[in-house]
Amino acid sequence: MSRLEDTFLADTFWKRPITLTRGMGDRVWDSDGKEYIDCSCGYGVALLGHCNPRVVEAMRRQSEKLLTCHGSFYSDAREECLSRLSKIKPEGTDKVFLSNSGTESVESAMKLVRRFTKKKSFIATVGGYHGKTMGALSLTWAAKYREPFMPLLEGVKFAPYGKADKIRELVDENTGAVFVEPVQGEGGIITPPPDYLKAVREVCDEKGVLLVLDEVQCGFGRTGKVWAHQHFGVKPDILCSSKALGGGMPIAATFARADIMDSIKRGEHSNTFGGNPLACAACTGAVDALLGDGLLQNATEMGALFKRGFEAVDSRMIREVRGLGLMLGIDMRFEVMNIILSSLERGVIVLEAGKTVLRLLPPLIITKQDVERVVEVVSIAIKVEEKKRAPGA
Ligand SMILES: Cc1ncc(COP(=O)(O)O)c(C=O)c1O
Repeated sequence: MSRLEDTFLADTFWKRPITLTRGMGDRVWDSDGKEYIDCSCGYGVALLGHCNPRVVEAMRRQSEKLLTCHGSFYSDAREECLSRLSKIKPEGTDKVFLSNSGTESVESAMKLVRRFTKKKSFIATVGGYHGKTMGALSLTWAAKYREPFMPLLEGVKFAPYGKADKIRELVDENTGAVFVEPVQGEGGIITPPPDYLKAVREVCDEKGVLLVLDEVQCGFGRTGKVWAHQHFGVKPDILCSSKALGGGMPIAATFARADIMDSIKRGEHSNTFGGNPLACAACTGAVDALLGDGLLQNATEMGALFKRGFEAVDSRMIREVRGLGLMLGIDMRFEVMNIILSSLERGVIVLEAGKTVLRLLPPLIITKQDVERVVEVVSIAIKVEEKKRAPGA
């Protein structure tokens, strides 16, 4: 079948061979009516489950009232959303800037750093991912994303992830901030050593540079706490969040200390859609669902169940099972694309993170029964691939 997605839409994604038409909770259905357990959730977006009832209802009500309201007018929907965001604002931050995507939340953070510190360079981490607009791309590690678009922002240095001392060595008089993911997502689901973020915080304080935490993927309940950095006992100066924040709608929030946020003057940074009423209503519903439905506890319990399940799979091909809460990675000894496709055929959607890591970002509402089913299906797919690769096969 000839599809406009193939012939007209920019060819920027490797596509799975199915068309999704419906979703509810941890399930999605394709155009043939086949059902899947979705452990991709739109790369982490549908964290509260597809079409979460609180999100849908908040959007339905708002969509009958007002769809757009520029930031130059007050909005009742935005006010309500801000009341929810103020409940979950990371400790140490006092204000928020609203935009529409993860990369935009990082761009906003970069501009805040420049404006507040008047310094021009940044430190990011090896394996880190912060988005693909020119600024955020400058902080993103992978050469395949960066090199076709050189030159990017000058003066970005990369420190090995998990090693705070290396950051100390790289900071100089031009460094404005260190950008870190509390758990690396695209980089392969890497949880740093337990004292890493505290040590990074200490380096930042000692050297007078800002600490920006990118929680676009690991934040908003994904790891079993509202923010992943809460596992590590640190406070950010700026925090970037997006993906799950809108329960499926595009919205992003950059939280910052008041003195940092106030350094930006009217007109110096803004956008048309940030804080629009529909996305704000969705975000209000999403925060209510996150805090009101006991989901954080479920993330911790189901995450542990997933880990135990995969650790029990008897395969020489599994190097490591890792993750925090419901941000999970299975590091394999070979490329994982065939496992992803064969799990898909068997009704389970999983992701990759790099070539050899299977990434699972299931929704917080996933049940024990579905966790067991996912482990069963993915381990069959692993075994099939292992057999194909066995000497003499
Ligand atoms: C940690 C992190 N930061 C930033 C981004 C960029 O977000 P977006 O794709 O919404 O621009 C992502 C996307 O995967 C991410 O994982």
